[in-house]
Amino acid sequence: MPDSRVPRRRRFLVCEPRHFAVQYAINPWMRPGEPVDVIRALDQWQALVDTYRAHGHTVETVAPVPGLPDMVFAANAALVVEGRVFGSLFQAPERRPESIPYQAWFKQAGFEEVHHPESVCEGEGDLVPAGRWILAGTGFRTTPEAHREVQEFFGIPVIGLTLVDPYFYHLDTALFALDEENIAYYPEAFSPGSREVLARLYPDAVTATREDALAFGLNSVSDGRHVFISPGATALADQLAHRGYAPVPVDLSEFHKAGGGIKCCTQEIRENRS
Ligand code: ARG
Repeated sequence: MPDSRVPRRRRFLVCEPRHFAVQYAINPWMRPGEPVDVIRALDQWQALVDTYRAHGHTVETVAPVPGLPDMVFAANAALVVEGRVFGSLFQAPERRPESIPYQAWFKQAGFEEVHHPESVCEGEGDLVPAGRWILAGTGFRTTPEAHREVQEFFGIPVIGLTLVDPYFYHLDTALFALDEENIAYYPEAFSPGSREVLARLYPDAVTATREDALAFGLNSVSDGRHVFISPGATALADQLAHRGYAPVPVDLSEFHKAGGGIKCCTQEIRENRS
């Protein structure tokens, strides 16, 4: 109940948005030519980093590369569980080169097991470890073939979920893990069968409205107690507070122009599975 939720310290990898821009359109949020305020983006991003640190989390950075405007979306670079790194193979040719600096970062940080996927796979954008399973999105980016590769690499059951709304093109725009037991999600982003799967696995899940989802409310990061969440997702924040979580609003509105939010900017490095 309210005061019993226990936060777990996290290790995050992020990338400064020094070269952030909207130069191409690979999701419906992106309008090339619409100006991005890089100073504002840098301020918002720094506030996210400061907020994580203020809550006891470790934040490390990978150096941004000029010409890779989406590199700030660190979540897409990999999925890291038990210190094993499953890298990315981006669908868009514009984003493919991002994998190289991230893989180099993991190598220099001492991660020895780094897998290079054979099929399109966009890291934590579509892969969400949630308790005993890895939830895996498909429909727009990551392929079902990659889901099989992920299961084989980690030896953890992968639950495939089909996304159907282009505004929620990555699983992490429509769903996030609250803790080891529960998730929050926007049901209409999923195919009817996938919705049923989620209802069976998580009968007690927090479900969000389209308004909350469009405010990037499902693109949140939870440490088990604090939920770092877009301030626009007010109804969802209220629901979370009623369930005993502590919503911590962080505004990343400048990144919404590229179709990203808090979670997209955050790669979680899981050394142990707990
Ligand atoms: N512009 C990027 C893309 O469309 C945004 C990625 C957002 N990342 C995420 N984890 N959903 O690929």
